[in-house]
Amino acid sequence: MEVLTHNSQLTTNTPVWRGLIHHYRRYLSVTDSTPVVTLHEGNTPLIHAPRLAEVIAPDVELYLKFEGANPTGSFKDRGMTMAVTKAHEAGAKVAICASTGNTSASAAAYCALAGIRCVVLLPQNAIALGKLAQALIQGAEVLAIEGNFDDALRIVLELSKTHPISLLNSLNPYRLEGQKTGAFEICDYLGHAPDFHAIPVGNAGNITAYWQGYKEYHGEGRIDTLPKMIGFQAAGAAPLVLGHGVDKPETVATAIRIGHPARGDEALAARDESGGLIDCVSDEEILRAQKQAAALSGVFGEPACAAPLAGLAKLSSSKYFARAREELGRKPVVVSIVTGHGLKDPNIAIQSGGEPTVVAANNAAVLRAIGF
Ligand code: F0G
Repeated sequence: MEVLTHNSQLTTNTPVWRGLIHHYRRYLSVTDSTPVVTLHEGNTPLIHAPRLAEVIAPDVELYLKFEGANPTGSFKDRGMTMAVTKAHEAGAKVAICASTGNTSASAAAYCALAGIRCVVLLPQNAIALGKLAQALIQGAEVLAIEGNFDDALRIVLELSKTHPISLLNSLNPYRLEGQKTGAFEICDYLGHAPDFHAIPVGNAGNITAYWQGYKEYHGEGRIDTLPKMIGFQAAGAAPLVLGHGVDKPETVATAIRIGHPARGDEALAARDESGGLIDCVSDEEILRAQKQAAALSGVFGEPACAAPLAGLAKLSSSKYFARAREELGRKPVVVSIVTGHGLKDPNIAIQSGGEPTVVAANNAAVLRAIGF
């Protein structure tokens, strides 16, 4: 019998994932001397979810891109590895962002790794507990603004223009560069573009980035078709659906509680160029879809991620996908982006999930409780 004496004999030649800058460097603004700041983000799972599709949109072949699997639990890590890498390359000492939570958690992590001071502005009492915990323990200087996200964004934009402070919000073009790699991963995995790309829309950076990514792959001939971009906002924070800004946005999905999206025009362009749409769903629909996704696919996303899933249900009941299925002669492939982990917002999940059943500590009581 062969005796393994060293771990190296247990390894395979499978290439190791070193983060998205390493993998997709050809598409990104980096050189061999760029000091890459990475937590090995990206390469997130694309999960086939037929049981969920059967309930919410039976005419589609549904895949969930689980961005909650990124190191800080959201898609923001894709953009942040690029933005902090470029800030580090430029010698930045201080960085700043406004956030509904996930951007701050991600910025804090990458700045901690690079040794850059990180200042985050959050709307007071309006961000999920997990995100606040991340920003604080990762050493960011956390300021709770007596205002909303839009107020916080206005302040950081001005301060980053007038002071030597790097802006880490998605107005920073490197954020979008990093985030477009999500589209590359989807196409690399499927071997083609999806027919529809469903996504929550808040400040509108991510829908813009994905559309850039698809167009770039298409321009290179790596994919033959482009997806229709279908974005969803929460009904109480739906400026792109209403056609005007919302001064007091409200929704249970605090990640997308934004009334004046910085990349709104680009999101509308992505919608129009792709032949897609931007619609909105109620908080009630969001919470229902969050629970359905978790219970019917095992993918537990935070409430914002359920906006597109609720949107798929809405479109399905208006026969939108039935028509696409007829046109294509097969079920359309839909990828929905699960942008952040459900554990980010435990309070909401516990409210939706219900109470556990309390039973005596014996076999009979357990069997009775489960109906055996
Ligand atoms: N989903 C989650 C979980 C988010 O955190 C965000 C945005 C979005 C969707 C919307 O993406 O802004 O690019 O349209 N969160 C930002 C933040 C605003 O500060 O964490 P978007």
